[in-house]
Amino acid sequence: MPPTHHTPTEPDAVAPAQLHAVAPVEAVIPLMRGITVLSRLTEAGGTSSLSGLERTTGLARSTVDRIAATLARMGYLRLDGRDAVLAPRLMELGNAYLAALRLPRLLDTRADALADELDESVSLAVADRDGIRFIHQATRRRAMSLSFRIGDLLPAERTAPGPLFATEWTPEDWARWRDRRAADPHDLGFPTLPPREHPVGDEEFEERTREADARGWSLDDQLIEPGLVAVSVPVRDLGGRVACVVSVVSHTSRHTADSLRDTLLPRLRATVQAMERDLREAPAQPPAAPAGLATWTGASKQELGREFVESLARGLTVITAFGEGRAALTLTEVAQATGLARATARRALITLEHLGHVTAHGRTFSLTPRVLSLGFPPLSRTTLPQLAAPHLAELADLLHDSASLAVLAGDEIQYTARVATSRIMSVNITVGTRLPTFPTSLGRVMLADLTPAERAPFLARLHPLTPHTVTDPAVLGATLNRVRENGYALVDGELEEGLRSIAVPVRDRTGRVVAAVNVAMHSSRRTAEQCVGEVLPELAATAGRIEADLRVAGRFTRVPAT
Ligand code: PHB
Repeated sequence: MPPTHHTPTEPDAVAPAQLHAVAPVEAVIPLMRGITVLSRLTEAGGTSSLSGLERTTGLARSTVDRIAATLARMGYLRLDGRDAVLAPRLMELGNAYLAALRLPRLLDTRADALADELDESVSLAVADRDGIRFIHQATRRRAMSLSFRIGDLLPAERTAPGPLFATEWTPEDWARWRDRRAADPHDLGFPTLPPREHPVGDEEFEERTREADARGWSLDDQLIEPGLVAVSVPVRDLGGRVACVVSVVSHTSRHTADSLRDTLLPRLRATVQAMERDLREAPAQPPAAPAGLATWTGASKQELGREFVESLARGLTVITAFGEGRAALTLTEVAQATGLARATARRALITLEHLGHVTAHGRTFSLTPRVLSLGFPPLSRTTLPQLAAPHLAELADLLHDSASLAVLAGDEIQYTARVATSRIMSVNITVGTRLPTFPTSLGRVMLADLTPAERAPFLARLHPLTPHTVTDPAVLGATLNRVRENGYALVDGELEEGLRSIAVPVRDRTGRVVAAVNVAMHSSRRTAEQCVGEVLPELAATAGRIEADLRVAGRFTRVPAT
């Protein structure tokens, strides 16, 4: 079997001696298989049919079904007809790694500022064995070239950061790198990359590594694809080791590799100096209590019976025991955090170590960058409408009424997601539709969150759309204050005669209102009281689920509102 360094979880792989020593094979195989399923789904872009998974994992259909049911129960994927779709909650695994690493939190503001200053993409990458893996991306969206996502893995030799990391490689690292190159000369093991068309010799990378060592910077002159150029500088930790590498990425339509070096390297270096200062001055991380453990409970087993694979759920829970102030944990600490028996925690840790998601140093364990391969790249691109859509569908299904998500766009609201019921309504609303802000429930919950000064322009232009439309700024102002207090807005026939709608805000991690969700219906369907009594609790629960997903997805990535 060829070495598959980033996909080591072959379903029929024989567990190594170390695993045999600690656990009966039956006890570790479910976690290995669960991770295989998550890896294949990630490589497929986040969605695959269950029969597709059967093919790509080589597992029996009944096994795929049981693993998918378990992951669905944990909130890590959704079953959508015959498809399995990765769910934002899965990002809590990658978040555990990124929080433990601390670097994104400490450095991302400076990376974003550099991207703004240069108007070019800027990335942070860490070493992942003989590859590099991105931990932050400040991407300038441009049509010209592909851009990588947080969690994407690239072969070191086809990047600018690679030679900088390779300056610290041991002879074993170099041997592993040569083995991988020999086994996979076209880089087919890196699904996010165009294949290597003109294989270059090993000497070239060795030479680039010597240069990087001498100069302290490194270039990528279209090693990934024609047009893509990058310049990189290492950020060193207090011990002088490369903690991560910052890259400025451009396109030959704007820069050659040489002009990138000549014009942008000085500013990149200034940023790296500031980053190294930040690292030196960052207070030591006090040990923290575990926060936000995966919500696996024994109830899942009772509920799903044979379909719930407990050892898979327990094994993944172990990953969430790590985090900020919890980068290196002993077995005892992992068992305490997760509530698992020591033997169970130990089995999970050693299985995860075998799969390359955990490393052991003496008595402590830590997560590796490979944890990001469990869903992070596709999920890091999730938008708020995508995140909300399944929750809106559930709500519309429950209430048999249309449910929508909207944001403020200039002085109007814009629908960004909508699940319509078959009921005919004269307001023909689709995604993208814009409506005036003041006579809609969606608009009012968003206006209610604004300061008086921010509200003023909206209140200055009130005009009647029906005989019921509130057009007195003082009256609307008082209404908005009540909306803010109550946490919802109910609008009756002010936009259109006979249309009743109720909305609640959607808040991000910081408490800011970023969108609103509503349920709209013909006024003959429910009284205003019924809307508050029957619809509001479900609507609020839906907003709560969207906010919970947003908290997980938005911890290390920016979730676009549209
Ligand atoms: C990137 O951030 O997309 C990037 C960085 C370094 C490279 C290539 C791409 O060499």
